[in-house]
Amino acid sequence: MKELRTSDLPIWLDEGSFDLQFRQDLTCAGSGKKQAGQLRGLLYSEDGIDENEFCYGFYRDIVFEKDRSLFQKYDFRYDITVIMPGTIKGECKKTSGHYHGYIEGQPYTYPEVYEVLEGKACYILQKVRNFNKPDEEPVIEDLKAVFVDAGQAIIIPPFYGHCSINVGDGPMVFSNIAVVSCPLHYEPIQQKHGLSIYVLKEGDRRDLIHNPHYKNVPRVKPITPTANSDLGITFGQSVYKSFIQSPEKFDFLLHPARYENDIDQMLK
Ligand SMILES: [Fe+2]
Repeated sequence: MKELRTSDLPIWLDEGSFDLQFRQDLTCAGSGKKQAGQLRGLLYSEDGIDENEFCYGFYRDIVFEKDRSLFQKYDFRYDITVIMPGTIKGECKKTSGHYHGYIEGQPYTYPEVYEVLEGKACYILQKVRNFNKPDEEPVIEDLKAVFVDAGQAIIIPPFYGHCSINVGDGPMVFSNIAVVSCPLHYEPIQQKHGLSIYVLKEGDRRDLIHNPHYKNVPRVKPITPTANSDLGITFGQSVYKSFIQSPEKFDFLLHPARYENDIDQMLK
């Protein structure tokens, strides 16, 4: 067992099964697993895949009882996902990917915080405002591949469809703080067989490959993220702890318009 110290929570990773264990009085409301067969329709290549191959495990609503009312007050939830090592037909293992829906009464969709706790991540972010118009070709205004190491965190800005990819050699573990009532849209990603970029891995090489189901994919920008302590994102300090200490800094999750420029600057 390996303690996930970056989380600053009593969470342990079983290095054989890659399951998580929550200790002391840390609670987790539920968990599940996704296998390769369940990612059909989203992968770079699907011929002859092992349907039962374990791709990722997710753990929802992780919280200390003493902190629960604070999370509820803001309508936030803290989750963790573990993406397995290895590839499927050369493609790095990944989550299915989705867009977030609109915040009630605002012309923006919900942002989200992702924090890498273990391993190396790449987040593909594609800005699409017409994500909710299934008859239209998605117009990708911006395309980023954000490379994030353990101890770093990023903010997914409004309108960016996103998926999480394990680009390292071991397991990749990340947390997210999301708004509980945020609607999630998986269908527009499924319709296009994934996001507009697939990440392939061979030895030390990582190749970003265009998904041919999209027309007009812009040049993908590789990004190294920048922290912003005013928004609660300090590299080396866990996001859970940062939220408990200064919950008001996470107001951007509910009112992103006020912080639009600051959020953009973190992914330049
Ligand atoms: Fe999300």
